[in-house]
Amino acid sequence: MILIIDFGSQFNQLIARRVREGKVYCQVEPPSIPIDAIKTLAPKGIILSGGPASIYAKNSPRVDAAIFDLGIPILGICYGMHFMVDTLGGKVKQAARREYGFAEFTAKGRSRLLAKVDKHSQCWMSHGDSIVALPKGFSVIGTTDNTSVAAAQNARRRFYGLQFHPEVVHTVKGTQMIHNFIYDICGCKRSWTMQGFARDTVTQIRDTVGDQKVILGLSGGVDSSVTALLVHKAIGRQLTCIFVDNGLLRKEEAANLKLRLKQHLKINIRFVSARNRFLRALAGVTDPERKRKIIGKVFMDVFEAEAKKIKNAKFLGQGTLYPDVIESQSAFGGPTAVIKSHHNVGGLPKKMKLKLLEPLKYLFKDEVRQLGKALGLDDDLVWRQPFPGPGLAIRVVGEITRRRLEILREVDAVLLDEIRKAGYYRKLWQSFAVLLPIKSVGIMGDGRTYEYIAAIRAVTSKDAMTADWARLPHALLGRISNRIINEVRGVNRVVYDISSKPPSTIEWE
Ligand code: XMP
Repeated sequence: MILIIDFGSQFNQLIARRVREGKVYCQVEPPSIPIDAIKTLAPKGIILSGGPASIYAKNSPRVDAAIFDLGIPILGICYGMHFMVDTLGGKVKQAARREYGFAEFTAKGRSRLLAKVDKHSQCWMSHGDSIVALPKGFSVIGTTDNTSVAAAQNARRRFYGLQFHPEVVHTVKGTQMIHNFIYDICGCKRSWTMQGFARDTVTQIRDTVGDQKVILGLSGGVDSSVTALLVHKAIGRQLTCIFVDNGLLRKEEAANLKLRLKQHLKINIRFVSARNRFLRALAGVTDPERKRKIIGKVFMDVFEAEAKKIKNAKFLGQGTLYPDVIESQSAFGGPTAVIKSHHNVGGLPKKMKLKLLEPLKYLFKDEVRQLGKALGLDDDLVWRQPFPGPGLAIRVVGEITRRRLEILREVDAVLLDEIRKAGYYRKLWQSFAVLLPIKSVGIMGDGRTYEYIAAIRAVTSKDAMTADWARLPHALLGRISNRIINEVRGVNRVVYDISSKPPSTIEWE
């Protein structure tokens, strides 16, 4: 494995992605990780990430300098390189000119890190400090116009540093450099596969759980489904999943889940129908945040009541993914403004004193999908677009009524049908319909209509942090609109949302 020390760079997850894509296991840890813990992990190499601090600032983050005595290769990126240089006796200073964005990298001399990298290539810089003196034993292996030490090495000790960011796509040969480091310099093999992960994890779950019982909240999404499948493989009937039907799901969603997970895969699931309870609690509520809070609270009550029926449960299974873990352990991720208070199914019943079982907590989303496939999950579920916990409640803008939910469900079903048929479902991050709380005039046959407006939202995105509206073909949009207005009673107008995020958000509420 490769150990990545997280100095707080906004790109640290990308480093992990690049290593994992190369089928090498890696783990991201904060600089406070004790040297003994590092020895236990026994990494074949360490990558020191970038970060926002200056190495010469007071309290700049540092990892135990004993890493340089482990005898393993180390690659420092940006701040990580500064840390290496500073610790080993070189000097870093504030640069005369800050450098941000594209630069032309020129390779110098010979280095295993730069094998198969062109003499001139584009790299991506983001720094205000520069190296002015290298430690003994180091030499320069690359420069840019503005930075005389853009890459350096101590080949004998296998220490390498890059001032720029090889993990971002703008550094054209960045992946090659990372591959040179992990395969050639560290000697890692391409051995990290989801089949292997599944095998090891099933054994681990068995060892941890023994003959105890596990409860797991199913949301219908890929993360909780894959978690359920993995735990089911490990302990079978000792697992009880709970699926709460809140009446805010899409058409036939609960039935589909039942068919796939319960009937086909034989997972032990309790379906709790709580539609009326949710609807009653939401009656008359129009504020989006209040909707979220109410749904979260009712969900917790229903889930807890059901979970209590399962006597002697000791564990709560949860589909936590690695990006959340990295984010929550980062010492540098400052508080961000709450735009929408998300609630996640499963992370709720703290009162029940259950131990957490989070078998996916070292995986990224695309790895979870691969794992789902390896475990035999349907393509439909594996490739499901994200669906928010509060469901259709935040897509029926304004007041939620049974009728308005029903209309939206029908509109959404038509939309998804057309998107799938046109081969767009997997290309889009999300595609869904929103029902507006206003009516407009239309004409149907010879009569005047006065009905609701449906908005279509389709976005592309990598991680939902930013998103762009999808340039769907006009013909497809035309078909969607036609079918909705013809097939769904209560809607006589369809509009397409052409806002990106930011400044808009993906969901309307
Ligand atoms: P926004 O609307 O903030 O959404 O751009 C970003 C992503 O988060 C999803 N989303 C939610 N997921 N509970 C969830 O579990 C929520 O309350 C919630 N609100 C938004 C949204 O679908 C998108 O993928």
